[in-house]
Amino acid sequence: MAEPIPSYPFERSRYLGSVSRVSPLGVRVNFPFATEVAPSQYAGHRVTRGQVGEFVVIESFGSAIIGRITEIQLPDRDRLSVEPERNEGDEVANPIGMIKLLGSVDLNSNQSSRGIGEVPRVGDYVYLAHPDFVRHAIVSTKGTKGGLIEIGHLSGAPETRISLSPASIFGRHCAVLGTTGGGKSWSTARLVEQVAERGGKVILLDPTGEYHTLKGRVRHIHLGGTRDSEADGREFVSFPYFHLTEMDLFAFLQPSPGVQAPKLRDALQSLKLVQLEPELLDVDSSILIKEERPWKPVNRAIVTHDRALHAPSAVFSFKDLVPQILAECVYPTSNKDGMKSHWGGRHQNSYDSCITLCMRITTFQKSQPMVPIFAPPEYMTDLTKVIEDFLADPDTAVLRVSMRYLAFEQHTRELVVNAIGRYLLGRARNGDFQKVPLVVAIDEAHQFLNKSIGDENNKVTLDAFGLIAKEGRKYGLTCLLATQRPRDVPEDVLSQIGMFVVHRLINERDQLVVINASGVLDQSTAAFLPNLRDGEALIVGADSIMPMPIILNQPVNKPRLEENVDMTWMSA
Ligand SMILES: Nc1ncnc2c1ncn2[C@@H]1O[C@H](COP(=O)(O)OP(=O)(O)O)[C@@H](O)[C@H]1O
Ligand SMILES: [Mg+2]
Repeated sequence: MAEPIPSYPFERSRYLGSVSRVSPLGVRVNFPFATEVAPSQYAGHRVTRGQVGEFVVIESFGSAIIGRITEIQLPDRDRLSVEPERNEGDEVANPIGMIKLLGSVDLNSNQSSRGIGEVPRVGDYVYLAHPDFVRHAIVSTKGTKGGLIEIGHLSGAPETRISLSPASIFGRHCAVLGTTGGGKSWSTARLVEQVAERGGKVILLDPTGEYHTLKGRVRHIHLGGTRDSEADGREFVSFPYFHLTEMDLFAFLQPSPGVQAPKLRDALQSLKLVQLEPELLDVDSSILIKEERPWKPVNRAIVTHDRALHAPSAVFSFKDLVPQILAECVYPTSNKDGMKSHWGGRHQNSYDSCITLCMRITTFQKSQPMVPIFAPPEYMTDLTKVIEDFLADPDTAVLRVSMRYLAFEQHTRELVVNAIGRYLLGRARNGDFQKVPLVVAIDEAHQFLNKSIGDENNKVTLDAFGLIAKEGRKYGLTCLLATQRPRDVPEDVLSQIGMFVVHRLINERDQLVVINASGVLDQSTAAFLPNLRDGEALIVGADSIMPMPIILNQPVNKPRLEENVDMTWMSA
């Protein structure tokens, strides 16, 4: 049973005018009072006389049709009647408005629906919709277990608070979109705080470090960065190379396809193999020597350890990679008598061809920005260990991973974030989030999605979050993606979004992306997007019958770029 309608929708005091033309595109209405200057007050609510963007109800047979004013104009002959300098007496303005019909509420059952059962007729009365009625018509409050999340209030009606069920926000994935400065980060912080308050868990990937303000049951860690001194209390984490796939490593190291790629592949396999079967090593050696050695023990070990060799995060020693690659550069068969099933001597051509690859690897080993990946110092914990810890700890609700110090070079950030996504998906498939669901929130998500990196030979598609979008939900893993470039979000991710929070959005191509993805937003509603204020957004949800303009509540702890980051030569 739906809740009762909060107030009778057709109040005399809210009368605006009457329908004068009906077409499939919308309804034209006479608004005799639209040129009145001051809004009046009635029963504690502001009553205007028709302004663009306002919701209206049309009294129809047995139902209230809901619409939104998209245009108000004066007919040409009345054009000048509103000029204050003209004083010709009896001219009266006859404003006309266009209304886009959005849906209807059946007055008997109180059910609202997206369709319009009976189109309005010419002469039907049009009223300014009461904000509470709009809320009732738009917001579905089903699935309210666990308490509602108050997200804000209806634009222009501070008394009309809007609350949604956690399920309608995070039951499917959630996207926070909008031009820079529109309020995405604040909304994200607010949602994160609300999830935490309700006992959910959030991993927040923070590319700029602006969420350092979050307080409460939050664990802050830095991916990368350097400790100032022993006394530095910050927690630094690494993302060790062995969590990367072979393709990820190839994207970093860019081996040439002819000789370098197969040698690199062999070397990785050999190094993983000696971890699993150290007996293959010579005394005092940490690499697998192949020159003039029999194939058999190695091939047997490869078969025995097949699974472990190909398991994700199979450990190997990166510092031995260069000598191991060079050790792979041997003839496939020995030409010595009685050593037919042995590798031969050094193959000088391959050896020479691998030199440039080895130089690149050495550069990576020494590169300061790559330290958290290729040479983590002792004080950095492995991020996957920290995540494990966090998931098991009932006292922490939010794990904020600051990536402020993580390098931009070589697509490190994209590759690492993608690998984190892949790791989380692996845990999800394992059933780890069935009891306590996990939300992964990513701000500036366009940086990490829908890209493939590397040259044509060593291409990695950043698909982890696409996969999470597609299958994470059934495992209790959902994402919250905030981005200023919706067009950079892959379509298959967008199609899985259950709720859009669309802040000010100016670019038309981005608007189109949202229109296509949401199914509820159309061109006439999207036309309001460029004018939204800071913190204002259209909420478009699978559960609501039409987009709703909302001023979002502010988070308790407002995101703020850390000192010095926003300081420029102009403000310094
Ligand atoms: N809910 C809100 N209410 C009031 N002001 C807000 C709200 N959200 C954002 N703002 C204002 O807008 C500014 C930009 O918000 P921010 O979330 O950093 O934008 P974005 O992440 O989209 O670039 C904030 O500094 C704040 O002044
Ligand atoms: Mg932001």
